[in-house]
Amino acid sequence: MSKAESHWKVPLADVTLGHEEIEAVTEVLKSGWLSMGPKTAEFEERFKEFLGVKHAFAVANCTAALHLACEAVGLKEGDEVLCPALTFVATANAILYTGAKPVFIDVNGPHDLNLSVVDAAAKVTERTRAIMVLHYGGYPCHLDGVRALAAKYNLKIIEDCAHAPGAVYHSKEGPQMAGTIGDVGCFSFFANKNMTTGEGGMVVTKDDGLAEKIRIRRSHGMTTLTWDRHKGHSFSYDVVARGYNYRLDEMRAALGIVQLRRVALGNARRREIVLSYRENLKNSEFLEIPFLGAPEGSTHHLFPVLLRDGSRRADFMAALAGQGIQTSIHYPPVHRFSAYLNLLPGDHRLPVTNEVCSREVTLPLYPSMSMAQLAHVVKSIGSFWAPGPQA
Ligand SMILES: Cc1ncc(COP(=O)(O)O)c(C=O)c1O
Repeated sequence: MSKAESHWKVPLADVTLGHEEIEAVTEVLKSGWLSMGPKTAEFEERFKEFLGVKHAFAVANCTAALHLACEAVGLKEGDEVLCPALTFVATANAILYTGAKPVFIDVNGPHDLNLSVVDAAAKVTERTRAIMVLHYGGYPCHLDGVRALAAKYNLKIIEDCAHAPGAVYHSKEGPQMAGTIGDVGCFSFFANKNMTTGEGGMVVTKDDGLAEKIRIRRSHGMTTLTWDRHKGHSFSYDVVARGYNYRLDEMRAALGIVQLRRVALGNARRREIVLSYRENLKNSEFLEIPFLGAPEGSTHHLFPVLLRDGSRRADFMAALAGQGIQTSIHYPPVHRFSAYLNLLPGDHRLPVTNEVCSREVTLPLYPSMSMAQLAHVVKSIGSFWAPGPQA
Protein backbone atom coordinates (compact mmCIF):
# COMPACT_ATOMS: atom_id res chain seq x y z
CA MET A 1 0.00 0.00 0.00
CA SER A 2 1.41 3.41 -0.86
CA LYS A 3 1.41 6.23 1.65
CA ALA A 4 -1.35 7.92 -0.39
CA GLU A 5 -3.58 4.86 0.08
CA SER A 6 -3.16 4.80 3.87
CA HIS A 7 -6.39 5.62 5.67
CA TRP A 8 -4.61 7.14 8.68
CA LYS A 9 -4.83 10.90 9.07
CA VAL A 10 -1.93 10.54 11.49
CA PRO A 11 0.09 7.34 11.08
CA LEU A 12 2.23 6.01 13.94
CA ALA A 13 5.46 6.51 11.99
CA ASP A 14 6.51 7.75 8.58
CA VAL A 15 9.68 7.81 6.49
CA THR A 16 11.38 10.89 5.06
CA LEU A 17 12.58 10.01 1.56
CA GLY A 18 13.46 12.43 -1.24
CA HIS A 19 14.95 12.54 -4.71
CA GLU A 20 18.45 12.02 -3.24
CA GLU A 21 17.50 8.51 -2.12
CA ILE A 22 15.99 7.74 -5.55
CA GLU A 23 19.14 9.01 -7.29
CA ALA A 24 21.41 7.09 -4.93
CA VAL A 25 19.64 3.78 -5.60
CA THR A 26 19.43 4.48 -9.34
CA GLU A 27 23.18 5.12 -9.44
CA VAL A 28 23.81 1.70 -7.86
CA LEU A 29 21.51 -0.04 -10.32
CA LYS A 30 23.31 1.64 -13.21
CA SER A 31 26.70 0.62 -11.80
CA GLY A 32 25.83 -3.08 -12.10
CA TRP A 33 27.46 -3.99 -8.73
CA LEU A 34 24.59 -4.86 -6.41
CA SER A 35 25.88 -6.43 -3.20
CA MET A 36 28.56 -5.52 -0.66
CA GLY A 37 30.92 -3.30 -2.61
CA PRO A 38 31.95 0.37 -2.61
CA LYS A 39 28.64 1.77 -1.31
CA THR A 40 28.64 -0.61 1.65
CA ALA A 41 32.25 0.35 2.42
CA GLU A 42 31.33 4.04 2.21
CA PHE A 43 28.27 3.57 4.43
CA GLU A 44 30.44 1.84 7.03
CA GLU A 45 33.02 4.64 6.87
CA ARG A 46 30.34 7.32 7.31
CA PHE A 47 28.79 5.41 10.23
CA LYS A 48 32.16 5.08 11.93
CA GLU A 49 32.67 8.85 11.62
CA PHE A 50 29.14 9.51 12.87
CA LEU A 51 29.74 7.53 16.06
CA GLY A 52 33.48 8.04 16.37
CA VAL A 53 34.01 4.28 16.61
CA LYS A 54 36.79 2.12 15.19
CA HIS A 55 34.78 -0.65 13.44
CA ALA A 56 31.36 -0.73 11.75
CA PHE A 57 29.85 -3.60 9.74
CA ALA A 58 26.71 -3.14 7.67
CA VAL A 59 24.39 -6.14 7.96
CA ALA A 60 21.01 -7.37 6.73
CA ASN A 61 19.08 -6.16 9.81
CA CYS A 62 19.51 -5.45 13.52
CA THR A 63 18.50 -8.99 14.49
CA ALA A 64 21.51 -10.25 12.50
CA ALA A 65 23.62 -7.56 14.19
CA LEU A 66 22.52 -8.76 17.65
CA HIS A 67 23.17 -12.39 16.72
CA LEU A 68 26.68 -11.56 15.49
CA ALA A 69 27.30 -9.58 18.68
CA CYS A 70 26.20 -12.53 20.82
CA GLU A 71 28.45 -14.93 18.91
CA ALA A 72 31.40 -12.54 18.92
CA VAL A 73 31.34 -12.20 22.72
CA GLY A 74 31.33 -15.98 22.91
CA LEU A 75 27.85 -16.82 24.22
CA LYS A 76 27.00 -20.51 24.25
CA GLU A 77 24.65 -23.14 25.67
CA GLY A 78 24.29 -22.82 29.43
CA ASP A 79 25.24 -19.13 29.60
CA GLU A 80 22.82 -16.52 30.93
CA VAL A 81 22.36 -13.03 29.55
CA LEU A 82 20.58 -10.22 31.40
CA CYS A 83 18.16 -8.29 29.17
CA PRO A 84 14.95 -6.29 29.50
CA ALA A 85 11.56 -7.96 28.94
CA LEU A 86 10.25 -4.59 27.83
CA THR A 87 11.79 -4.73 24.36
CA PHE A 88 11.14 -6.06 20.89
CA VAL A 89 11.37 -9.85 20.82
CA ALA A 90 14.45 -9.76 18.57
CA THR A 91 16.61 -8.71 21.55
CA ALA A 92 15.87 -11.93 23.42
CA ASN A 93 15.70 -14.12 20.30
CA ALA A 94 19.29 -13.22 19.39
CA ILE A 95 20.41 -14.57 22.77
CA LEU A 96 18.47 -17.81 22.22
CA TYR A 97 20.13 -18.34 18.81
CA THR A 98 23.41 -19.02 20.61
CA GLY A 99 21.89 -21.50 23.07
CA ALA A 100 22.24 -19.01 25.93
CA LYS A 101 19.28 -18.08 28.13
CA PRO A 102 17.80 -14.58 28.46
CA VAL A 103 17.22 -13.58 32.09
CA PHE A 104 14.63 -10.83 32.11
CA ILE A 105 15.29 -7.63 34.03
CA ASP A 106 12.66 -5.20 35.24
CA VAL A 107 12.46 -1.54 34.24
CA ASN A 108 13.04 1.42 36.57
CA GLY A 109 9.47 2.65 36.85
CA PRO A 110 6.70 4.55 35.09
CA HIS A 111 9.07 7.52 34.82
CA ASP A 112 11.87 5.51 33.18
CA LEU A 113 11.21 2.49 30.96
CA ASN A 114 14.87 1.51 30.74
CA LEU A 115 16.38 -1.50 32.45
CA SER A 116 16.93 -1.35 36.24
CA VAL A 117 20.56 -1.88 37.21
CA VAL A 118 19.42 -2.80 40.71
CA ASP A 119 17.24 -5.63 39.40
CA ALA A 120 20.02 -6.69 37.01
CA ALA A 121 22.45 -6.96 39.95
CA ALA A 122 19.94 -9.08 41.87
CA LYS A 123 19.65 -11.56 38.97
CA VAL A 124 23.35 -12.20 38.34
CA THR A 125 24.36 -15.86 38.83
CA GLU A 126 27.60 -17.75 38.26
CA ARG A 127 26.35 -18.47 34.72
CA THR A 128 25.81 -14.80 33.74
CA ARG A 129 28.13 -13.85 30.88
CA ALA A 130 26.66 -10.68 29.37
CA ILE A 131 24.10 -7.92 29.66
CA MET A 132 22.14 -6.75 26.64
CA VAL A 133 20.69 -3.28 27.15
CA LEU A 134 18.09 -1.36 25.18
CA HIS A 135 17.88 2.42 24.87
CA TYR A 136 14.10 2.40 25.03
CA GLY A 137 12.55 4.83 22.55
CA GLY A 138 15.99 6.36 22.03
CA TYR A 139 16.43 7.43 25.70
CA PRO A 140 19.92 6.27 26.73
CA CYS A 141 19.84 3.75 29.58
CA HIS A 142 22.02 4.10 32.69
CA LEU A 143 25.25 2.84 31.27
CA ASP A 144 27.49 4.01 34.12
CA GLY A 145 25.59 1.61 36.38
CA VAL A 146 25.61 -1.11 33.74
CA ARG A 147 29.36 -0.72 33.29
CA ALA A 148 30.01 -0.91 37.00
CA LEU A 149 27.94 -4.11 37.19
CA ALA A 150 29.70 -5.56 34.14
CA ALA A 151 33.11 -4.76 35.61
CA LYS A 152 32.20 -6.40 38.93
CA TYR A 153 31.03 -9.67 37.37
CA ASN A 154 33.17 -9.65 34.22
CA LEU A 155 30.18 -9.35 31.85
CA LYS A 156 30.19 -8.28 28.21
CA ILE A 157 27.84 -5.39 27.32
CA ILE A 158 25.80 -5.47 24.11
CA GLU A 159 23.82 -2.32 23.30
CA ASP A 160 20.60 -2.76 21.32
CA CYS A 161 20.56 0.64 19.62
CA ALA A 162 17.64 -0.10 17.28
CA HIS A 163 16.01 3.11 18.52
CA ALA A 164 19.12 5.13 19.11
CA PRO A 165 21.19 6.26 16.09
CA GLY A 166 22.67 9.54 17.34
CA ALA A 167 21.66 9.17 21.00
CA VAL A 168 24.15 10.66 23.44
CA TYR A 169 24.67 9.27 26.94
CA HIS A 170 26.00 11.72 29.52
CA SER A 171 28.27 9.43 31.48
CA LYS A 172 30.53 10.30 34.42
CA GLU A 173 33.31 10.58 31.84
CA GLY A 174 31.38 13.00 29.62
CA PRO A 175 29.07 12.61 26.62
CA GLN A 176 29.34 9.35 24.67
CA MET A 177 27.48 8.06 21.63
CA ALA A 178 25.07 5.18 22.27
CA GLY A 179 26.49 2.04 20.70
CA THR A 180 30.10 2.90 21.50
CA ILE A 181 29.96 2.50 25.26
CA GLY A 182 29.51 -1.26 25.65
CA ASP A 183 31.50 -3.96 23.86
CA VAL A 184 29.24 -4.08 20.78
CA GLY A 185 26.46 -1.78 19.52
CA CYS A 186 23.69 -2.90 17.16
CA PHE A 187 21.53 -0.59 15.01
CA SER A 188 18.37 -1.15 12.95
CA PHE A 189 17.46 0.56 9.71
CA PHE A 190 14.03 -1.08 9.46
CA ALA A 191 11.32 0.93 7.70
CA ASN A 192 9.93 2.59 10.86
CA LYS A 193 13.27 3.58 12.40
CA ASN A 194 14.88 7.04 12.72
CA MET A 195 16.96 6.28 9.63
CA THR A 196 15.97 3.54 7.22
CA THR A 197 17.20 1.37 4.40
CA GLY A 198 13.96 -0.66 4.31
CA GLU A 199 15.73 -3.58 5.98
CA GLY A 200 19.25 -3.15 7.28
CA GLY A 201 21.47 -2.85 10.31
CA MET A 202 24.96 -2.03 11.58
CA VAL A 203 27.23 -3.62 14.19
CA VAL A 204 29.89 -1.40 15.77
CA THR A 205 32.74 -2.08 18.16
CA LYS A 206 35.99 -0.53 19.30
CA ASP A 207 37.53 -3.97 19.96
CA ASP A 208 39.74 -5.38 17.17
CA GLY A 209 39.22 -9.01 18.23
CA LEU A 210 35.43 -8.75 18.30
CA ALA A 211 35.50 -6.87 14.99
CA GLU A 212 37.37 -9.71 13.28
CA LYS A 213 34.85 -12.28 14.56
CA ILE A 214 31.94 -10.16 13.32
CA ARG A 215 33.57 -9.49 9.93
CA ILE A 216 34.22 -13.17 9.29
CA ARG A 217 30.81 -14.43 10.43
CA ARG A 218 28.84 -11.83 8.46
CA SER A 219 29.71 -13.53 5.19
CA HIS A 220 29.77 -17.32 5.66
CA GLY A 221 32.94 -17.36 7.76
CA MET A 222 34.94 -16.62 4.58
CA THR A 223 38.30 -14.89 4.70
CA THR A 224 37.67 -12.78 1.55
CA LEU A 225 34.62 -11.19 -0.10
CA THR A 226 33.40 -11.43 -3.69
CA TRP A 227 34.22 -7.71 -3.95
CA ASP A 228 37.85 -8.30 -2.87
CA ARG A 229 38.21 -11.01 -5.50
CA HIS A 230 36.56 -8.80 -8.14
CA LYS A 231 39.14 -6.12 -7.42
CA GLY A 232 41.87 -8.74 -7.90
CA HIS A 233 43.00 -8.51 -4.28
CA SER A 234 42.73 -12.26 -3.85
CA PHE A 235 41.79 -15.31 -5.87
CA SER A 236 40.46 -17.71 -3.29
CA TYR A 237 39.29 -17.94 0.29
CA ASP A 238 39.23 -20.13 3.33
CA VAL A 239 36.27 -20.65 5.67
CA VAL A 240 37.42 -20.21 9.24
CA ALA A 241 34.17 -20.13 11.27
CA ARG A 242 30.54 -21.16 11.06
CA GLY A 243 29.25 -18.00 9.41
CA TYR A 244 26.04 -16.62 7.98
CA ASN A 245 24.84 -14.60 5.05
CA TYR A 246 24.09 -11.37 6.93
CA ARG A 247 25.36 -9.05 4.18
CA LEU A 248 23.75 -5.76 3.17
CA ASP A 249 23.26 -4.97 -0.51
CA GLU A 250 24.49 -1.90 -2.34
CA MET A 251 21.04 -0.38 -2.93
CA ARG A 252 20.39 -0.34 0.79
CA ALA A 253 23.88 0.93 1.58
CA ALA A 254 23.34 3.81 -0.87
CA LEU A 255 20.03 4.60 0.86
CA GLY A 256 21.77 4.45 4.21
CA ILE A 257 24.42 7.00 3.18
CA VAL A 258 21.69 9.54 2.36
CA GLN A 259 19.57 8.68 5.39
CA LEU A 260 22.56 9.07 7.71
CA ARG A 261 22.91 12.66 6.47
CA ARG A 262 19.29 13.29 7.48
CA VAL A 263 19.24 11.61 10.88
CA ALA A 264 20.46 14.49 13.09
CA LEU A 265 17.87 16.86 11.64
CA GLY A 266 15.16 14.21 11.92
CA ASN A 267 16.07 13.57 15.57
CA ALA A 268 15.96 17.32 16.30
CA ARG A 269 12.56 17.63 14.64
CA ARG A 270 11.28 14.65 16.66
CA ARG A 271 12.40 16.44 19.80
CA GLU A 272 10.41 19.57 18.89
CA ILE A 273 7.31 17.43 18.41
CA VAL A 274 7.89 15.71 21.76
CA LEU A 275 8.29 19.10 23.48
CA SER A 276 5.00 20.19 21.98
CA TYR A 277 3.25 16.94 22.96
CA ARG A 278 4.55 17.29 26.51
CA GLU A 279 3.44 20.90 26.77
CA ASN A 280 -0.04 20.05 25.49
CA LEU A 281 -0.50 16.94 27.64
CA LYS A 282 1.25 18.05 30.83
CA ASN A 283 -1.96 18.87 32.70
CA SER A 284 -3.82 15.70 31.76
CA GLU A 285 -4.92 13.86 34.87
CA PHE A 286 -5.46 10.72 32.78
CA LEU A 287 -1.94 10.27 31.44
CA GLU A 288 1.59 9.86 32.74
CA ILE A 289 4.47 10.67 30.42
CA PRO A 290 7.62 8.58 31.02
CA PHE A 291 11.11 10.10 30.99
CA LEU A 292 11.97 13.55 32.22
CA GLY A 293 11.39 16.29 29.67
CA ALA A 294 12.77 15.94 26.17
CA PRO A 295 16.55 15.60 26.65
CA GLU A 296 18.72 16.45 23.66
CA GLY A 297 20.60 13.18 24.09
CA SER A 298 17.54 11.14 23.12
CA THR A 299 16.67 10.29 19.51
CA HIS A 300 12.94 10.37 20.39
CA HIS A 301 12.19 7.27 18.40
CA LEU A 302 8.94 6.68 20.33
CA PHE A 303 6.53 8.84 22.27
CA PRO A 304 5.10 6.51 24.94
CA VAL A 305 2.37 7.54 27.38
CA LEU A 306 0.91 5.55 30.28
CA LEU A 307 -2.83 5.66 30.88
CA ARG A 308 -3.58 6.03 34.57
CA ASP A 309 -6.49 3.66 34.03
CA GLY A 310 -5.02 0.84 31.97
CA SER A 311 -8.38 -0.97 31.79
CA ARG A 312 -9.43 1.63 29.22
CA ARG A 313 -6.50 1.06 26.84
CA ALA A 314 -8.40 -0.82 24.12
CA ASP A 315 -11.19 1.81 24.13
CA PHE A 316 -8.63 4.60 24.05
CA MET A 317 -6.78 3.13 21.08
CA ALA A 318 -10.06 2.41 19.27
CA ALA A 319 -11.30 5.96 19.85
CA LEU A 320 -8.08 7.39 18.40
CA ALA A 321 -8.26 4.96 15.47
CA GLY A 322 -11.80 6.27 14.90
CA GLN A 323 -10.26 9.73 14.51
CA GLY A 324 -7.77 8.42 11.96
CA ILE A 325 -4.91 8.23 14.48
CA GLN A 326 -2.72 5.13 14.57
CA THR A 327 -1.28 4.11 17.94
CA SER A 328 0.66 1.09 19.14
CA ILE A 329 1.99 -0.69 22.23
CA HIS A 330 5.74 -0.78 22.95
CA TYR A 331 5.90 -3.50 23.97
CA PRO A 332 3.92 -6.57 24.88
CA PRO A 333 6.68 -7.89 27.21
CA VAL A 334 8.73 -10.76 25.82
CA HIS A 335 8.25 -13.14 28.78
CA ARG A 336 4.50 -13.23 28.14
CA PHE A 337 4.61 -14.40 24.52
CA SER A 338 3.45 -18.01 24.05
CA ALA A 339 6.82 -19.21 22.78
CA TYR A 340 8.59 -17.71 25.79
CA LEU A 341 5.99 -19.01 28.26
CA ASN A 342 6.79 -22.50 26.94
CA LEU A 343 10.53 -22.00 26.76
CA LEU A 344 11.14 -20.03 29.95
CA PRO A 345 8.16 -20.64 32.23
CA GLY A 346 7.97 -19.33 35.77
CA ASP A 347 7.79 -16.04 37.59
CA HIS A 348 10.40 -13.73 36.19
CA ARG A 349 9.86 -11.20 38.99
CA LEU A 350 9.01 -8.28 36.72
CA PRO A 351 6.37 -6.35 38.69
CA VAL A 352 7.13 -2.94 37.19
CA THR A 353 7.31 -4.22 33.62
CA ASN A 354 4.02 -6.06 34.04
CA GLU A 355 2.38 -2.98 35.50
CA VAL A 356 3.57 -0.39 32.95
CA CYS A 357 3.07 -2.68 29.96
CA SER A 358 -0.61 -3.04 30.79
CA ARG A 359 -1.21 0.69 30.33
CA GLU A 360 1.35 1.87 27.77
CA VAL A 361 0.26 3.44 24.47
CA THR A 362 2.62 4.86 21.85
CA LEU A 363 1.42 8.01 20.09
CA PRO A 364 2.38 9.02 16.52
CA LEU A 365 5.83 10.57 16.10
CA TYR A 366 7.89 11.21 12.97
CA PRO A 367 9.87 14.19 11.64
CA SER A 368 7.32 15.23 9.00
CA MET A 369 4.42 15.24 11.48
CA SER A 370 2.69 18.63 11.21
CA MET A 371 1.54 20.76 14.13
CA ALA A 372 -2.01 20.36 12.77
CA GLN A 373 -1.64 16.57 13.04
CA LEU A 374 -0.29 16.93 16.56
CA ALA A 375 -3.20 19.20 17.49
CA HIS A 376 -5.60 16.57 16.12
CA VAL A 377 -4.02 13.90 18.33
CA VAL A 378 -4.12 16.14 21.42
CA LYS A 379 -7.74 17.15 20.79
CA SER A 380 -8.82 13.54 20.20
CA ILE A 381 -7.18 12.49 23.49
CA GLY A 382 -9.02 15.29 25.31
CA SER A 383 -12.34 14.28 23.73
CA PHE A 384 -11.88 10.67 24.79
CA TRP A 385 -11.59 11.56 28.47
CA ALA A 386 -14.12 14.38 28.36
CA PRO A 387 -16.61 13.57 25.60
CA GLY A 388 -18.90 16.44 24.65
CA PRO A 389 -22.67 16.18 24.93
CA GLN A 390 -24.19 13.62 22.53
CA ALA A 391 -26.02 15.20 19.59
C1 LIG B 1 14.47 -2.83 20.20
C2 LIG B 1 14.64 -3.54 18.89
N1 LIG B 1 15.60 -4.48 18.78
C3 LIG B 1 15.78 -5.14 17.62
C4 LIG B 1 15.00 -4.90 16.53
C5 LIG B 1 15.21 -5.72 15.31
O1 LIG B 1 15.53 -4.91 14.21
P1 LIG B 1 15.45 -5.48 12.73
O2 LIG B 1 14.00 -5.42 12.33
O3 LIG B 1 16.29 -4.52 11.94
O4 LIG B 1 15.98 -6.86 12.72
C6 LIG B 1 14.00 -3.92 16.59
C7 LIG B 1 13.17 -3.65 15.42
O5 LIG B 1 12.02 -3.35 15.44
C8 LIG B 1 13.80 -3.23 17.81
O6 LIG B 1 12.85 -2.30 17.94
